[in-house]
Amino acid sequence: MKKITIAIDGFSSTGKSTVAKQLAKKLGYVYVDTGAMYRAVTLYALKTDYISKNSFDVDGLVKALPQIKLRFVFSNDAGFAEMYLNDENVEREIRQMEVSEFVSLVAAVPQVREMLVAQQQEMGREKGIVMDGRDIGTVVFPDAELKVFMTASAEERAQRRFKELRERGEEVTYEDVLENVQKRDLLDTTREDSPLVKASDAKEIDNSHLTLEGQFEKILQLYNNAINN
Ligand code: DC
Repeated sequence: MKKITIAIDGFSSTGKSTVAKQLAKKLGYVYVDTGAMYRAVTLYALKTDYISKNSFDVDGLVKALPQIKLRFVFSNDAGFAEMYLNDENVEREIRQMEVSEFVSLVAAVPQVREMLVAQQQEMGREKGIVMDGRDIGTVVFPDAELKVFMTASAEERAQRRFKELRERGEEVTYEDVLENVQKRDLLDTTREDSPLVKASDAKEIDNSHLTLEGQFEKILQLYNNAINN
């Protein structure tokens, strides 16, 4: 059976990971959430105080990069591979608002991107992979056979994220979440190194008004077209 590379990019909270996980499961492909890797580096920077409320010691973090070991370990309970930072499962911690607040700053550091992109390319060497992020179709796998770009309105995305965080017991307001979503959109699309842009050959899916099933059908159709090409 022919295996391909599937790149799923888009703004934060567009449901990239939901659809990428579904697709990987259906096809028996490996799923990689690259946002989790940027989040894990951010968590490391917070724990080691390279980042604090008012300062970011970029040079310090860059020097410490060789000490950061990232690994995905498949969890039968979760049904996907969870993120480990230096052998500790950080899957939950990396989703906290504190990490979300700083992750775009860390993701803008070229040396961080260089390290993570190299690891991502290595994971996808044998194809049969669904990877989601911001620069997968443009930088990590410019030759991916299928590229999808997901969008939805900022309000819709903030609503989804707000619900998720509240269900996990985090004390946040919708306004804070919306502000974080908008701030990250701006930082992600305007950073100098690998800004979030739609690859010219990516297929766009706006899921503001799509059900999960509707969205999955669309993506399966795109996969079938790509595999038959
Ligand atoms: O997908 P996410 O919201 O978990 O991603 C967290 C942050 O990481 C996001 O603000 C942008 C950054 N990111 C990136 O720059 N490149 C990627 N390939 C994935 C994520």
